[in-house]
Amino acid sequence: MLRSIFATVLIAIGLCGVASAQDSSTGAGPAVAPVQPSGVAPAAPTLGGVQGVNIFEVKPDASSDPDYAKQTNAERAKVQPGNNAPMWRQIAAGVTGTSSLPKSEAPEAGNLIQPFVQYPGSRLTNAGEAWRQVRNNWLIPYGGSLLLIVVLAIAIYYFGKGSIKTRGAPTGRKIERFTPFERSAHWSNAIAFVALAISGVVIAFGKFFIEPVIGATLFGWLSYALKNLHNFAGPLFAVSLVIVFITFLRSNWPQKGDLHWLRTGGGLVTGAEPPSNRFNAGEKLVFWGGVFFLGLIVVSSGFVLDRLLPGLVYERSTMQIAHMVHAVATMLMMAMFLGHIYLGTIGMQGAYQGMKTGYVDETWAREHHAYWYEDVKAGAIPAQRSDPAPPSQTVRV
Ligand code: HEM
Repeated sequence: MLRSIFATVLIAIGLCGVASAQDSSTGAGPAVAPVQPSGVAPAAPTLGGVQGVNIFEVKPDASSDPDYAKQTNAERAKVQPGNNAPMWRQIAAGVTGTSSLPKSEAPEAGNLIQPFVQYPGSRLTNAGEAWRQVRNNWLIPYGGSLLLIVVLAIAIYYFGKGSIKTRGAPTGRKIERFTPFERSAHWSNAIAFVALAISGVVIAFGKFFIEPVIGATLFGWLSYALKNLHNFAGPLFAVSLVIVFITFLRSNWPQKGDLHWLRTGGGLVTGAEPPSNRFNAGEKLVFWGGVFFLGLIVVSSGFVLDRLLPGLVYERSTMQIAHMVHAVATMLMMAMFLGHIYLGTIGMQGAYQGMKTGYVDETWAREHHAYWYEDVKAGAIPAQRSDPAPPSQTVRV
């Protein structure tokens, strides 16, 4: 028994010896290649002309070199062939090198990772990471909260006070409030806006409330389709926005009664609506703040993201800044137009009719736009501006 165990151990030691002898001959090398008295490791064999590397070779501890971290790639290659850490450290620091990307197509061809920046709301890091932090830590949570708060406020107002009713009985006499051209300009703009708003909300927030319901694959297809819709509806919105701006500009200049309207909050709380012109001061604020100011920012940043501005070099930082500007302006615009859409649908009786048919009843005009009604009555503004009205809409002053 003892003899056979002893024989087995001997055989095992022998086999190990043989194995280690074999390994060193193929360059794989045992864990520790015997260091020559000179301390120089035997040269690793070449295979097919390729210089092998003896990874088990203990080299003088290169990292003990005080300048290890400052070594260039070339220096590192001498002490640790294949270790490209210096190159990646440079890439991570945003240093521009050369890459095989055609410069014509990729303005930042040699720059794999952007240099360090600090956007408001991010820590100092590579620009791409800084943008991601701003998007995920600020734009999404705060933008989303703003929209939810506005929807909630509108719901509380609607269920608390109900829609603004026309108190007096309709006279049956109609006044043309919007011509067919004004209505088509408005609705093409409104439809493009709603398409952009819904696709934008799904792209930005869909992963929180749609993806868990329909799953990643379907959500992937949905957001892909909506992204394309968004890219095409953008230019349509831009053109119709300019037409809406020019079309309604004349009636949106400050006029008598506007300040009083603002001071009383348009009677939204008291219920006593102050007199106003064709458009009240609240509508004028939406016009200048929403249609003009935010519209300009949303469209121009959207054109950058759609790469529609000729002559602009579309680098990553350009897109990141355009995205952050676009996100902030669109959230504010959606919040503003949620109020407009509420008043233009269920929030005020008769308003929707005006933009749908073009006509409002005299009573509606007198109660909501008294100065405009008086001007129509006085003949200062024609009660019918477009071609003769269809029979159902006979205007009698
Ligand atoms: C579904 C979406 C929308 C609905 C239901 C809607 C509804 C209305 C209604 C009913 C009016 C007439 C208000 C009045 O008689 O004083 C109106 C006016 C107007 N809307 Fe909209 N709207 C929508 C979207 C938009 C969008 C997206 C824009 C522009 C970006 C816009 C710009 C205007 C302008 C400029 C006026 C004329 C009032 C003024 O110039 O101050 N609307 N809308």
